[in-house]
Amino acid sequence: MIEVKDLTRYYGQKRAISNVSFNVQKGEILGLLGPNAAGKTTTMRILTCYMPPTSGTATIGGYDIFEQSMEVRTITGYLPENPPIYPDLEVNDYLKFVAKIKGVEKNRIEKEVDAAVEKASLGDVRNRVIGKLSKGYKQRVGLAQSLINNPQVVILDEPTVGLDPKQIIEIRELIRSLKGEHTIILSSHILPEVEQTCERVVIISNGRVVAEDTPENLTTRMRGSERVQLEVEGDEDAIKKALGSLPDILSTRIETKDNGVCKVVVESKSDLRKEMAKSLVDSNLGLLELHPDKATLEDIFLHLTTKEEGA
Ligand SMILES: Nc1ncnc2c1ncn2[C@@H]1O[C@H](COP(=O)(O)OP(=O)(O)OP(=O)(O)O)[C@@H](O)[C@H]1O
Ligand SMILES: [Mg+2]
Repeated sequence: MIEVKDLTRYYGQKRAISNVSFNVQKGEILGLLGPNAAGKTTTMRILTCYMPPTSGTATIGGYDIFEQSMEVRTITGYLPENPPIYPDLEVNDYLKFVAKIKGVEKNRIEKEVDAAVEKASLGDVRNRVIGKLSKGYKQRVGLAQSLINNPQVVILDEPTVGLDPKQIIEIRELIRSLKGEHTIILSSHILPEVEQTCERVVIISNGRVVAEDTPENLTTRMRGSERVQLEVEGDEDAIKKALGSLPDILSTRIETKDNGVCKVVVESKSDLRKEMAKSLVDSNLGLLELHPDKATLEDIFLHLTTKEEGA
């Protein structure tokens, strides 16, 4: 649905993005993850035809962003980093205004506004003045304007920035509910955001794509070994002996001991959870808890972006 190939953009002498390439399948939610100044907004502004790349190409729904920008704009909704706000307008009137600008036919305007209000859960406030809404609701208005004219593709630049945790959860749910019907790219420098909302992640750092995968695969790729956390009741030495006797164990570390209960972290070359449980129980040790310790996307993000620095 979206094909991005070798996009490069200079601002004067400064190169903001270099050879950015990625694809997005129809109905997918792709996360564009990167720290400040990584080039997320630049990439999104190019894809939404707000400015041309210095070199490279991209197509949206088969339309070229340069040659067929009118078509691209028609099938693409955009929530910019700083959403256009008309604080004096009522939600309803603002959305009607957006529909007019987007060229929605007069007899369809009402229907389009109703659909966007419904999708962005704005029913309760549609007659309120935008300037008096909470930040979370203002962001929903921004989201609603991007959904006017039912675009196939929706591009959202940091949609949850500045919101409180409850509002973040609500906006995330809203975005997830758009999946399937719309193809979505959302940018973020907040890691849990993309981990929880997106099916695939492109990590961008210093204007370059440094990784592209599912959140799960990124986790596995980074981690060459398995790490498991355990809580075991019993003697430290007995625990170490029971676990250390297994093949493929790389390390066994007792982290804390409290009231006869040890917190243990084990690294192994393969998944040994069943063998560990059996060995502990066979040694008459009390296994209270056992769970895999996953690398977070945050680890990967730091790992990849730090490695890339100076390259
Ligand atoms: N209009 C501009 N003129 C000159 N340089 C710019 C302009 N816009 C962006 N840049 C530079 O391009 C680089 C990428 O900026 P961009 O806004 O795309 O990053 P971003 O990933 O969206 O960052 P943030 O997370 O802070 O929004 C930065 O170094 C920025 O300073
Ligand atoms: Mg930005």
